[in-house]
Amino acid sequence: MLIAGNWKMHLDARGANELARGVMDATADAGPVQVAVCPPYVHLGALSSTLKNSRVRLGAQNMHSADKGPFTGEISASMLLSVGCHYVILGHSERRQKFGETDASVNAKVKRALRTGLVPIICVGEHLRERSAGAEKEVVASQIKFALEDLKLVAPNALVIAYEPVWAIGTGKTATPGQAQEIHALIRSLLVRQFGGEVASGVHILYGGSMNPGNARELLVQPDVDGGLIGGASLKAEDFGAIVEIAQSVSR
Ligand code: PGA
Repeated sequence: MLIAGNWKMHLDARGANELARGVMDATADAGPVQVAVCPPYVHLGALSSTLKNSRVRLGAQNMHSADKGPFTGEISASMLLSVGCHYVILGHSERRQKFGETDASVNAKVKRALRTGLVPIICVGEHLRERSAGAEKEVVASQIKFALEDLKLVAPNALVIAYEPVWAIGTGKTATPGQAQEIHALIRSLLVRQFGGEVASGVHILYGGSMNPGNARELLVQPDVDGGLIGGASLKAEDFGAIVEIAQSVSR
């Protein structure tokens, strides 16, 4: 199980440090559950020190696909690695919707992250209109296919997938456990086809979209739900810690 917090564009330096300390305390006894927080870029260096001797890993929310160059305002994978990042979220629906992220750019970033030694958390998920049209499987399968194009994966822990139905993100609406399991199983089958059963069975497939302490259990007990990518509820150490505790209690 992996529980990762996506802090999005929230918190100043002091707030980020306080939350990191809170998360550290709240998840100190998480057992086998892996824990990560993904703060805004500017807090990564400081939080890397704060989290140094803890089990909480650090992730970024995006990166550029090039390693360096004339890309004002951008951040590279090797920079993230150098400030202590383990994970990087790629292809989040907010980036696809609001910042022109495409399947092709996600694929380029995934390749760069893997080459650099960062673990990409690749986000996929359908819009409400697509689910209403019964096209959710087709949409997710296509996003997975493009994101993983030309990849050969040797280790299951090199990559994480997050299924985040767009209509569930920040809306208070969650996928039903059945809806989540159905798409997670589809993603697993695509991973099996590309990487083989042994690797695919060990890749963490996270659910994201309004997960909170109240609904985490029914989602996390699904056989192909291996954790959560948590937005709103990750901004309160208590709630985030409660989700981690639930993950621990249902850990496989
Ligand atoms: P949410 O966000 O938990 O606030 O719905 C999840 C995400 O965007 O990763």
